[in-house]
Amino acid sequence: MGRIIIRGGNRLKGTIRVGGSKNAALPILGASLLCPGVTVIGDVPRLRDVDVMISLLEYLGARVSRNGHTLHIDGSNVRPLDVSEELMRRMRASNLVLGPLLSRFGRVCISYPGGCDIGSRPMDQHLKAIRKLGADIVEQRGFIRSTSKGLVGRDIQFDVPSVGATENTMMAAVLAKGTTVIRNAAREPEISDLATFLNGMGAMVSGAGSSVIRITGVSEMSPVEHVVIPDRIEAGTHMIAAAVTGGDLSIINVVPEHVEAIIAKLQECGVDVTETENSVRVVAGGELLGGDVKTMPYPGFPTDMQPQFVALCALARGTSIITETIFENRFKHVPELRRMGADIRIEDRTAIVRGVPALSGTHVATSDLRAGAALVLAGLAAENTTVVESPEHIDRGYEDLEHKYRSVGADIHREL
Ligand code: EPZ
Repeated sequence: MGRIIIRGGNRLKGTIRVGGSKNAALPILGASLLCPGVTVIGDVPRLRDVDVMISLLEYLGARVSRNGHTLHIDGSNVRPLDVSEELMRRMRASNLVLGPLLSRFGRVCISYPGGCDIGSRPMDQHLKAIRKLGADIVEQRGFIRSTSKGLVGRDIQFDVPSVGATENTMMAAVLAKGTTVIRNAAREPEISDLATFLNGMGAMVSGAGSSVIRITGVSEMSPVEHVVIPDRIEAGTHMIAAAVTGGDLSIINVVPEHVEAIIAKLQECGVDVTETENSVRVVAGGELLGGDVKTMPYPGFPTDMQPQFVALCALARGTSIITETIFENRFKHVPELRRMGADIRIEDRTAIVRGVPALSGTHVATSDLRAGAALVLAGLAAENTTVVESPEHIDRGYEDLEHKYRSVGADIHREL
């Protein structure tokens, strides 16, 4: 809790290590429900969202122990208990227990995870898929109750390449009879990491990372050890921190391929980005140029980097047009950036940003984790002092963010 205090204007210089991916860890934690025995998951970031997922697994009977960034999860005593609305509402990704519980036990009952600040977040694609696999679904009073006498592999065509629906369907299909084909599947790297984890447990998943994923059902799964891929959105956030402060950051534990769209856009904005096998170096110093972005499913420019990129454009020369195609309400950071002096106009799902010479620090409110991150970036670049309220939203997706930026020269601390 507390608030983050930033005295802006310092150029960030040095090295930052990126943690394991939140959005890979969450589905993989769900997949640990698929079998008895102890799975071991490495480089799991210490985040509020991970804590929520661990609480959910423990509620269902899993035994979880954490040693630093390594989790041991024993799924032996898991039972498909009804998941309360209170538990489900704490995090949308709680819905990632749907596939595993239905797969292993033929029964699951969760409440709708509820929308959040960035959009309505429906689950129609999740339900369409498990219904196609043969599950019965009853939706009443905000709960989704699903049972099956044995799922059967089918061809499933998604209307939208939903990350969560792809993940739930993969986990529902691994123990089904026969082969499941998911078409128009999400292609995010986190999907591929989940497939690697599932195959390590004995599943037969192929095509992950492409829009057609094939899953041949197996009779049982067994525990596995796995290290989570690096968090590409955390990496992109640090890249923009270097850009907006005119800094020179080496960002390590990065898969450059996973951040190609971000690298390309930063280079268009006049920032120098070089790659090694597992790191990127971002050197800024000249004038930032504005750039146009349309958020798209992977491998396009990620929606989870849109708020951070708007913060960059607020300080860049010229006018930038940023269109948010994934979520219908993901500009909560804009009013707060305006209070710092940004010149931004919203037309439906598009932000028209006219760069200004400088932003000025003030009190700003956070509403979701990426909007909060964008405000931290703006504070790092702004004149005077920025006070970021409710940093618990940021803690959902970033581990020790202020410590990481202080270690490379930012004047930033948390006031409890
Ligand atoms: C995942 O959410 C990520 N979360 C989100 O990251 C990310 O923004 C999102 O994918 C898009 O990349 C995790 O992985 C835990 P979707 P998810 O289902 O799976 C529509 C962050 O900041 N849709 O791919 O919930 C939906 O409305 C978070 O780390 C349906 O219409 O996203 C949206 O417009 C925020 N029907 C689009 O698809 C469905 O059944 C993408 O949603 C499901 C989704």
